[in-house]
Amino acid sequence: METDKKKLIQIDQFLEKLGGIPPIPAVARKVLRLAGSDDARLADIARLIATDQGLATQILRMCNSAYYGIPHRVKSLSRAVALLGFKSVRNLVVIHSLPRRRSGTPTFAEAAIWTHSTAGAIVARLLALETQAADPEEAMLGGLIHDTGRLVLNMLIPDHYEPVMRAIYNREGPSVEIEREAMGIDHTTVGEAVLRKWNFPDELVDTVRRHHDASDTLDPLTLIVQAANEELWILGMGVREPAEPVTELPPALGRLGYSLEELPELEERMRAAMESGKEFFGQV
Ligand SMILES: [Fe+2]
Ligand SMILES: [Fe+2]
Repeated sequence: METDKKKLIQIDQFLEKLGGIPPIPAVARKVLRLAGSDDARLADIARLIATDQGLATQILRMCNSAYYGIPHRVKSLSRAVALLGFKSVRNLVVIHSLPRRRSGTPTFAEAAIWTHSTAGAIVARLLALETQAADPEEAMLGGLIHDTGRLVLNMLIPDHYEPVMRAIYNREGPSVEIEREAMGIDHTTVGEAVLRKWNFPDELVDTVRRHHDASDTLDPLTLIVQAANEELWILGMGVREPAEPVTELPPALGRLGYSLEELPELEERMRAAMESGKEFFGQV
């Protein structure tokens, strides 16, 4: 535990030298803190969101998108929050608050990371719904933020991270190894430090820290996010599509109970879910 703490401080210092962890809006940090407390009420979250007009408008727009399939138009924030519930609203706030790009036109790396992250959210949610191994909303958020470390490294040192990103995109090796070789640090530890600063719940921070961990002691949520990430590599989401069709079952998917025979149909369901989620997540 002591060494963990020391490591986090070192990463904080490393990020500080690069310009510091980019902020997320104060409202998002407050919503995340509120979501972690036991006595939070839906009215509190609605009131908090209402203090940020841009965010409130976005939440209403997303609530009315085809993704949720609510048959009538939702016009008030308190109604939206009541309909969607705590976790969905928290997720909407995070989707809207994550830094996506540095300026107007997204770079290659920014577009690839956003594509990968949003597909991760959709696929992880689908796996949670199908396996019932974890809460679908937690899985969605885990999938969305699993590569926050890459997002932030790319924001802080874009010139340095772009070649790393291209090597990852071109499947030149495992992402964490490419990063460690280029920078002496990888996106799982950076992600952990960043998400702690942003008030994300411990369980999700652990998932992000361990999403490339191949040990057999992973909790179900982390396993789902890991399986989703493995699938994104097969489906070519934010990475170059594999040159050869994949003939092996991704290990985490196997541990979730899927078989190789089920894979083609599962991937069809994933593709359909990603297609219908496109509009919901928006462009980078
Ligand atoms: Fe990753
Ligand atoms: Fe990933």
